[in-house]
Amino acid sequence: MIKKDIEKIKKDYLKKINLIQKYNKAYYSNSKPLVDDFEFDKLKKEILNLEKKYNYLNNKNSPSFTIGFQPSKTFKKVLHKVPMLSLGNAFSQEDLVNFEKRIINYLDKTENFQIEYSAEPKIDGISASLIYKNGKFITGLSRGDGKEGEDITENLKTIADIPSHIKLKNFPEEIDIRGEVFIQNSDFKKLSDKFANPRNAASGSLRQKNPSETKKIPLKFIAYTFGYEKGMKILFQNDYLKKLKEWGFKTNPFNQTLKNIKNLMENYYEIEKKRGEIDFDIDGIVYKVNDFKLQKRLGNVANAPRWAIAHKFPANSAISKIENIEIQIGRTGALTPVAKIKPINIGGVVVSNATLHNEEEIIRKDIRIGDTVLVERAGDVIPHVISVDFKQRAQNSKKFNFPLSCPSCGSKTVKDFNFTTKKKDAVRRCSSEGYGCEKVAIEKIKHFVSKEAFNIEGFGKKIVENFWNLNLIRLPQDIFKLDYTKIENLDGWGQQSVANLKYSIDLRKTISFEKFIYALGIRHIGLENAKIISKNLKSLKNLILLSKKNNFSDLLNIDGIGETQINSIKNFFANNTNIKVLNGLEKVLFVNDAKIQKSDGLLNNRTFMLTGKLEGLSRAEAKSLIEENSGYIVSNVSKKLDYLIIGEKPTNRKIIEAKKQNVKVISQKEFLYMLETKGS
Ligand code: IVH
Repeated sequence: MIKKDIEKIKKDYLKKINLIQKYNKAYYSNSKPLVDDFEFDKLKKEILNLEKKYNYLNNKNSPSFTIGFQPSKTFKKVLHKVPMLSLGNAFSQEDLVNFEKRIINYLDKTENFQIEYSAEPKIDGISASLIYKNGKFITGLSRGDGKEGEDITENLKTIADIPSHIKLKNFPEEIDIRGEVFIQNSDFKKLSDKFANPRNAASGSLRQKNPSETKKIPLKFIAYTFGYEKGMKILFQNDYLKKLKEWGFKTNPFNQTLKNIKNLMENYYEIEKKRGEIDFDIDGIVYKVNDFKLQKRLGNVANAPRWAIAHKFPANSAISKIENIEIQIGRTGALTPVAKIKPINIGGVVVSNATLHNEEEIIRKDIRIGDTVLVERAGDVIPHVISVDFKQRAQNSKKFNFPLSCPSCGSKTVKDFNFTTKKKDAVRRCSSEGYGCEKVAIEKIKHFVSKEAFNIEGFGKKIVENFWNLNLIRLPQDIFKLDYTKIENLDGWGQQSVANLKYSIDLRKTISFEKFIYALGIRHIGLENAKIISKNLKSLKNLILLSKKNNFSDLLNIDGIGETQINSIKNFFANNTNIKVLNGLEKVLFVNDAKIQKSDGLLNNRTFMLTGKLEGLSRAEAKSLIEENSGYIVSNVSKKLDYLIIGEKPTNRKIIEAKKQNVKVISQKEFLYMLETKGS
């Protein structure tokens, strides 16, 4: 074909892309369709046909990429009264045994203690929270980030499985009923090719701005748990599931109440066998401790309950070929090899990247460029290479040489020595600390603005990269000093979008101390540790003071913070750029001091330490009990310690030291008495 023809085809194609974008925008963002469905589908088909015919045509705004509906950003955000948690995963019988062991230890029971579980097939849909007051469906929320959801009431109201009124006497006065919105496979097949899989269809349809669009898609709802409630007198999960049915909700017909890992495994295999016959996608079985009293004692870790786990079914996999191995550099300098594979469809999703984890993994599995490999994709886990088909390997194939210098900045790459395992790490890292390496710096800034850190809305990964390339940002503090007039003149930006960006940045100039610590991206200081440090140090001022004294030994007294974390904090502050970041941020931000824990709790901010084994109470549960009642737990005997609680077989040295320092030494009984009456 002559060049002129190609140019014309490209031009026509682009015109159609622009047109469909215009239709989309009018429809999704402004809820004012410019054309009817027929016209829209016709245009879409034309574009797809052109792409099929001329393989040089592609555009990121093509409907072949933007499958499904673009989520709207205009839903009202509402806080969940009780957070919507996620679940830990188990993949094997061993994982289940460990799950049960953790529970038994936490509850301080003996090995033969039998736990009863509610075993519920895990539907792969979209979770929703339905708030009922006096029997009336009032508000419906999406999960959102778990803490804050979107108000999708009107869309949920279109689902026939969701009762709008419940007139039964035994229905709680107030309750937040939670469950899964999904689409049956048979219904999905009947839909046009708008969505890649049933889950996307459910999600896209639920987050439609126009409820009449939601209504067109036959969504279903199955209930399985609750958040906030008032006036519910149910003690067991299986009873709750029964009640849900009485109240008019659908529940999963394959739910079971079971004891013993052996029976859990049998049930798991049975359901897995039936998986293909069931008319909705399930990706595993959820096990929940059946007794609500025990659930309450067990509580949560980070954002998942201790009392439940998801036992996942084996993932989908497919065979492909490695075309190249690229090295990605993370914010901690870790070099992650990624296999660029020939695109393949795994369970409805096109996969073209598979992680190879680290250098060790490549050596262990002898993975090479050109190899034919088995790739697995499980739920939201990043696709990874399972194994190499050595029979297919070319004769001239060469071992992959992992780079000994950083592909971004050229610094040496190193493997740290891990003091806990007494071995070298499997991960190789760029040795230039922090912001010295371009790729690391960009990743650090991405982390800084990310959802769990500063959560700057609209400041996504692409924008970080763009702004970096344009030299607008080099360090986190630059975000708060952006030259907005310059941005307004950039391609793709305008007055309104710049105003939005400025608004979301300004919104985060005030931040909690905890999020601030997390956002710094200190290695080994994740969300949980940031929280612990924030609670103990209380203010940014104290952190800066500590860094100036260059003495972090005080942190060692914090329960939960160990040598690994302290070493990492030390390293962090030994780096001048990090100090510059800290000082720079302090000037432009208002970092709120940590909320003083309810000091109205019975333990009144007193500090406790445990020695020896307590009866019927694990260390972890004792710690939670102390913290829930406004006490603190420390890990050393010092003047700062108020009470040393003695259990069975205590460490005598600690008792002697405590007495020397005038610390009150109390028994478990005395401690429990403090929780019943006023801390004295
Ligand atoms: S209980 C606190 N029960 O799994 C426990 N969740 O990874 C979390 N899910 O977001 C909710 N079936 O979307 C629970 N029978 C079931 C479930 C279930 C599916 C989903 C739910 C949740 C996710 C957690």
